[in-house]
Amino acid sequence: MANSSPAFPHASKMEVLFSKSRIAERVREIGAQISADYAGTSIVLIGVLKGAAIFLSDLARAIEVDNTFDFVAVSSYGRAKVSSGAVKLIKDIDNSIEGKHVILVEDILDTGLTLSYLRGMMLQHKPASLKIATCLDKPERRLVPIEADYVGFQIPNRFVVGYGMDYAEHYRNVEDIRLFPEEAVGH
Ligand code: XMP
Ligand code: MG
Repeated sequence: MANSSPAFPHASKMEVLFSKSRIAERVREIGAQISADYAGTSIVLIGVLKGAAIFLSDLARAIEVDNTFDFVAVSSYGRAKVSSGAVKLIKDIDNSIEGKHVILVEDILDTGLTLSYLRGMMLQHKPASLKIATCLDKPERRLVPIEADYVGFQIPNRFVVGYGMDYAEHYRNVEDIRLFPEEAVGH
């Protein structure tokens, strides 16, 4: 159907930053690293909806150590691409993480506000340990000091879509991570 909106250009027109195969390779490496670090234990992966859902599903299968997963949801940017700084929990974890080895799984570590808030929340539940895995890291955007323990790729301050990441909820299904055209981003 000829119904393509100019607001949502087709992903094939966008430059590929990380291909599907490069992402898969990196996820396998991180999975192997986590498997080594947590050998003989059991892990709870907590994904931040919705962006981290696809990374988490791949990462969980790349980890050989016994693992379960859960999800949280926080207030998001919506259509605007600039963080308001306010983070609100919309969906909490379903199961207790007290005494468990927890890894928070995020799509992008950007200003750090979301993960600092979530880390504080999770620590209140007294996990045995808490680490952070993020598919992408934009270090130059950081507003609060926080680093991830496992990083897929560091990227410059560019807006990306695909592999779970969206622009106004679109493009999450795109298999590569692509650069969203700057002129379409409402900074
Ligand atoms: P903070 O700033 O709290 O936010 O670290 C992290 C969240 O910001 C979103 N984000 C992006 N989403 N493309 C996206 O699709 C991007 O380039 C981008 N940069 C930040 C993302 O939801 C992440 O969870
Ligand atoms: Mg997100």
